[in-house]
Amino acid sequence: MPILRAHAFEFISNSPQQTRRVGMRLGAHLEPGHVVALVGDLGSGKTTLVQGVAQGWGALDPVTSPTFILVNVYRRAQGQPLFHMDAYRLGSLHEAWELDLPALWDQGPLLVEWADRIADLLPEDRLEVHLDWIDEWKRRLLFQGRGPRANALVQRLRHDLLGS
Ligand SMILES: Nc1ncnc2c1ncn2[C@@H]1O[C@H](COP(=O)(O)OP(=O)(O)OP(=O)(O)O)[C@@H](O)[C@H]1O
Ligand SMILES: [Mg+2]
Repeated sequence: MPILRAHAFEFISNSPQQTRRVGMRLGAHLEPGHVVALVGDLGSGKTTLVQGVAQGWGALDPVTSPTFILVNVYRRAQGQPLFHMDAYRLGSLHEAWELDLPALWDQGPLLVEWADRIADLLPEDRLEVHLDWIDEWKRRLLFQGRGPRANALVQRLRHDLLGS
């Protein structure tokens, strides 16, 4: 699979299980301060990836799509939180601003579905994951770091997944 830039790579997933396994690898590397921006159409696999991330994080709680509360929190045994936000149903940017996202990502990693809708509220140093539907079972995942911390994350993940 092609390496597009030093801090970006592409991965083709052939099943939801494979997307979850990729998520697990990512979840194992996440720390407070990490922000993962998920960008892709309905059904592209954002929540499926988050399911794996939460598992890799060691979350005890099952992943569900955040709806009315906008942000879900999944805790692991020692209590550390992983935050999962869905910006799809946001009424306004102000509504997202009121959530005080920096206070969340200070405590634990933050994953955002439909992150393009609140890009202005996210840190520049974030990991972007673009998900594209190829066919019923195939998705293209593009991982791209946008700052030093995210770039380091991309390198670790690329090593796990592609061995390079
Ligand atoms: N390779 C794959 N990776 C991820 N999901 C896949 C794959 N192949 C098929 N699917 C299916 O595609 C769907 C993805 O749904 P999911 O809820 O993860 O998407 P989403 O991007 O979160 O959508 P939404 O924008 O509605 O939140 C699931 O039904 C899943 O089983
Ligand atoms: Mg979703």
